[in-house]
Formats: sequence, C-alpha cells, structure tokens
Amino acid sequence: MKMTEHQNKPMELITLQHVCKYYTMGDQTVKALDHIDLSISANEYIAFIGTSGSGKSTMMNILGCLDKPSDGTYLLNGTDVSSLTANELARIRNREIGFIFQSFNLLPRATALHNVMLPLVYKGIKFSERKRLAIKVMEKVNLSDRMDHIPSQLSGGQRQRVAIARALITNPSILLADEPTGNLDTQTTKDIMALFDQLHNEGQTIIVVTHEKDIANHCQRVVTLSDGKVVKDIMNKRETSSV
Ligand SMILES: Nc1ncnc2c1ncn2[C@@H]1O[C@H](COP(=O)(O)OP(=O)(O)OP(=O)(O)O)[C@@H](O)[C@H]1O
Ligand SMILES: [Mg+2]
Repeated sequence: MKMTEHQNKPMELITLQHVCKYYTMGDQTVKALDHIDLSISANEYIAFIGTSGSGKSTMMNILGCLDKPSDGTYLLNGTDVSSLTANELARIRNREIGFIFQSFNLLPRATALHNVMLPLVYKGIKFSERKRLAIKVMEKVNLSDRMDHIPSQLSGGQRQRVAIARALITNPSILLADEPTGNLDTQTTKDIMALFDQLHNEGQTIIVVTHEKDIANHCQRVVTLSDGKVVKDIMNKRETSSV
C-alpha cells in the first residue's frame, strides 16, 4: 500500500463526510445518498453492491465528479470537490478519474486505437504522442492485434478492454466501473476481472459497482448500500489467504 511522504499511515484518496444527494420530484424528495461517511485509500479494490435504486450509480457519479453532493463534503486527494465550479469539476475529472461503463460507450466509427487516444485530445497532447501512449496502453490490455478494428468488429470482451484502455490512458488516480461486466458472458467476465486484478497489483485504485456476487467476492472490500445508506462495509479475506 502507498504511503504519504511524511506520515506512516495509508494515504486517504477519498473521504466522504455526511454526503447526501437528494432529488426533488414534485412534492417528493428521494434520498439517493443519505449521510454517507466513507474513506477509500489509494490502491484499494472496492465493490459497491445493493438492490436496484439503493444509490450505487449516484455514488459513482459523485465519486467520479460527474455530479456534486446536495450536502456534505467530498475530499478527493485533499481537494474539497463539493465546493468546485462545473469547470473545475471537469478539470479534476479529466485528471483523476477513469470511467468504465456497462455499455462500453465507444465511438462506433472510430478504430480501437482512436477510441483510446480520444481522452488525450482534451489534454492538448499532440497526435504522435497520443498514438504512442495509446499503443502502450493497448498492449497492457492485450489488444495490440486489434488496434485498427472498429467496435462492431470486436467481441464484447475486446470492446470492454478498449474501454478500459481508454480509461487508463490519462493515468487516473481512480478507475470507476459501473457494472463493467453486465453485458459479458462468464468467461469474458473472468478475463476482465483478471485484468482488474493485474491493474490493482500494479497499484491502481479500483471502484466497481456490481450485482454479481462473484465479482464482489473478488474485491478486497465490499460496501453494501440500502436506501442511500451504507449498511455493511466488510473486508474480504480471499486476497490475503489464497492469492
Ligand atoms: N436524476 C434523478 N432524478 C430523480 N431521482 C433520481 C435520479 N437519479 C436517481 N434517482 C433516484 O435515486 C435512487 C438511487 O438511484 P441509483 O441510480 O443510484 O440506483 P442504483 O443503485 O444504481 O440502481 P440500479 O442497480 O438499478 O442501477 C433511485 O430511487 C432513483 O429513482
Ligand atoms: Mg445503477
């Protein structure tokens, strides 16, 4: 586990203090997140689980700086995200966060390589350097032989690996994945989880939302949400005992 330079305790990457997200619909208020207190350290591998509507995607949107809490404080790498403007939020998102979605969200007419290069356009990095970095990250996800294929010419697992490469190319502090294997078969799910394990071993912080027990069991820590609250927060023994 990574340490801060001057302290001897694990570095806290994420701290949520009394975080709430409320949606008002007519005269009804939905408490999608209801006073969440939670810390996540660098290089944790954590799953959020819970029934439909329990607040998992809302949590990911907040953690990923796509949305701001209605109340409470979110510290990301020491920055109080709750107080940032939309532009500042977008900047911190580009720098710190890599997103992976259930539906991959790739550009259908762009090659795998161009899909992976895309996030660097917004950083103003020149073409040759974007290409060099994309080739490197495609190697990491084991897709060097499919760089010129467009998404419809790739399998589901390969598409998800393109999406993972695209999330990794900016070298984010956090990889956020909302149901990343929801559209994949069992074997492909295993391959993607093996890739996540590899990234975690290399130091990546990974936060996954899942319905699937097998995937949650794979993670170091499992947090259960119910009605916008944390009702369970456990450490899995598996990693230390059997790997
Ligand atoms: N934009 C919105 N406006 C109003 N209510 C919302 C909005 N987004 C989410 N909600 C409500 O907030 C609650 C939490 O939603 P969320 O999408 O976080 O659930 P989830 O745990 O991701 O569910 P699922 O497993 O079905 O994806 C739900 O009751 C939902 O109806
Ligand atoms: Mg959801």
